[in-house]
Amino acid sequence: MTEAILLVGGKGTRLRPLTVHTPKPMVPAAGVPFLTHQLARARAAGVDHIVLATSYLAEVFEPYFGDGSDLGLHLEYVTEEEPLGTGGALRNVASRLHSAPGDPVLIFNGDILTGLDIPALVDTHRTSGADVSLHLTRVDDPRAFGLVPTDSTGRVSAFLEKPQTPEEIVTDQVNAGAYVFNRSVIDTIPAGRPVSVERETFPGLLADGAHLQGMVDSTYWLDLGTPQAFVRGSADLVLGRAPSPAVPGRCGERLVLETADVAPDAKLTGGSVAGPRSRIGAGARIDGSAVLADAVIEPGARIRDSLIGAGARIGARTVLDGAVVGDGAVVGADNELRDGIRVWCGAAIPAGAVRFSSDE
Ligand code: GDD
Ligand code: MG
Repeated sequence: MTEAILLVGGKGTRLRPLTVHTPKPMVPAAGVPFLTHQLARARAAGVDHIVLATSYLAEVFEPYFGDGSDLGLHLEYVTEEEPLGTGGALRNVASRLHSAPGDPVLIFNGDILTGLDIPALVDTHRTSGADVSLHLTRVDDPRAFGLVPTDSTGRVSAFLEKPQTPEEIVTDQVNAGAYVFNRSVIDTIPAGRPVSVERETFPGLLADGAHLQGMVDSTYWLDLGTPQAFVRGSADLVLGRAPSPAVPGRCGERLVLETADVAPDAKLTGGSVAGPRSRIGAGARIDGSAVLADAVIEPGARIRDSLIGAGARIGARTVLDGAVVGDGAVVGADNELRDGIRVWCGAAIPAGAVRFSSDE
């Protein structure tokens, strides 16, 4: 059997305007809570026991996923009283693992959408004989990530979290947030205090001469840390660019949940989702966007690359481009909202109140 730890805690709830009461792993992406995709991908790779390490609003996970049997998994939940950091969270769940000291344990950051070949990472770990193996991906700007240079054999030579100066940026390879740890390495993380796996554990292991192995590839990879990235990820799941066995229905231009009510001449494209009980009015155009449960899009609205929260209402002819509209918010008719705007949960914008383009 293979087991895994999924990190879904920490201080950040960066989707807050959409999800004041819901941590982002539970926001629907392609029709199901985002976490479902990670759990289903792990299951498909042969993982059967997963411990969710959580620290905030943890009580929303267990009522939804239960013991995991619906997904063919044995799921356990461990909640930190105070966030213990990524390394502290691992140490904190060590007693729940069944693995022997030399066994491999998979670890996943809970906010990553990826096509990672999980068995290939485990293989890399076995054949290299490493203590820890890391999935690496290449990005244009590594400053928001952990920088991981490797030698010609893939062995990690340094780990530099959130590099800032040009001298620090020696490679475009970054930590993609999926690891294989030998069980015994998890047991060496100090207990009972916050530990960052990126700032303390990895640099410490390297200084002690441990073997960290990198596996770099060019598979689909996206950090869902911002609402815009979340919208992109949802659309890519629907389009089939991001592979997940948990997408409910066939991949394609759109995903219309059974209970959604979409006018015959409304157009959904670019991986858009019409969530449960949502209503999409006549002539509406929705591209690359997610319309969550019970939201209403009135006739003639034009929506691109946007997230429409549960129960929100978008007025007739309103234009949204790169917008996040919080749960229950109301955007009146004939508005134009663009470029990263976030409408708070429950807020109301009157008809004809905001425009970017000039009057006609
Ligand atoms: N249980 C628990 N407790 N989980 C935590 C805690 C904690 O105190 N802190 C963070 N996490 C979880 C988050 O929920 C997330 O799933 C994961 O650990 C990573 O934390 P983030 O806060 O999202 O870190 P980041 O995105 O800035 O950077 C991390 O991910 C990058 C890839 O997206 C680092 O691992 C980087 O090195 C990496 O490149
Ligand atoms: Mg993150």
